Amino acid sequence: MSSAVVIPAAGLGLRLGGETPKAFREVGGDSLLVHAVRGLKAATAADLDCFVVAVPPGAEEAVGKELEPYVGDARLLVVAGGAERPDSVRAALDVVPFDGIDCILVHDAARAFVPAAVIERVVEAVRSGAQAVVPVVPVTDTIKRVGPTGDVIDTPDRSTLVAVQTPQGFAPDVLRRAHAAGLVGATDDAMMCERLGVTVTTVEGSPDAFKVTRPQDLLLAEALLAERRL
Ligand code: C5P
Repeated sequence: MSSAVVIPAAGLGLRLGGETPKAFREVGGDSLLVHAVRGLKAATAADLDCFVVAVPPGAEEAVGKELEPYVGDARLLVVAGGAERPDSVRAALDVVPFDGIDCILVHDAARAFVPAAVIERVVEAVRSGAQAVVPVVPVTDTIKRVGPTGDVIDTPDRSTLVAVQTPQGFAPDVLRRAHAAGLVGATDDAMMCERLGVTVTTVEGSPDAFKVTRPQDLLLAEALLAERRL
């Protein structure tokens, strides 16, 4: 049994501000990308033996050198990402060696602190036969749908809503088919699978798997790291 992980890390992170692309912003002395890779390696039951990372074009060699010490004896491939996240995932998927791999994870570098247990739950669900798996947490805000004018259309029942995290896990062929279908406007990989009619299974996520998006998320990341280092 072995798994591969695709890590889109090519985003600029405009909502975060600053000059450095988001995945290379440092928290506690290491980049978000290094934290993410270290977290994935800590999930030993996931048997990750191939890491494919999509980075801003031109950064491939430098990132390869930076990450090498963290992947152990797993294979590391670094590719240039694309204009949008799905383009980056697709560029990475293109070089995944599919032979002998029973699960592919797609994991945002920006979710750098996901606990090992979440990663292992996702992989376990794929190995148990699920075609597509997402970690989820309950929604705490009331969510409303709004129209183009900003007026509220309706309020979905919050008890039926969840927030979706990464890593998302897939049977390799399903993920390949989903990306080959080239669906426009998908905001995650599971959504591409849904549109193919594939059932997407949920497992328990974690508040620690939050996505670093805005400046205050960096403060949260610092605090989380300080607590883990106690
Ligand atoms: O922008 P957002 O936070 O949704 O990005 C999620 C992940 O997708 C980040 O890790 C980011 O680096 C990655 N991404 C990418 N290529 C893009 C845009 C985002 O790899 N063109």
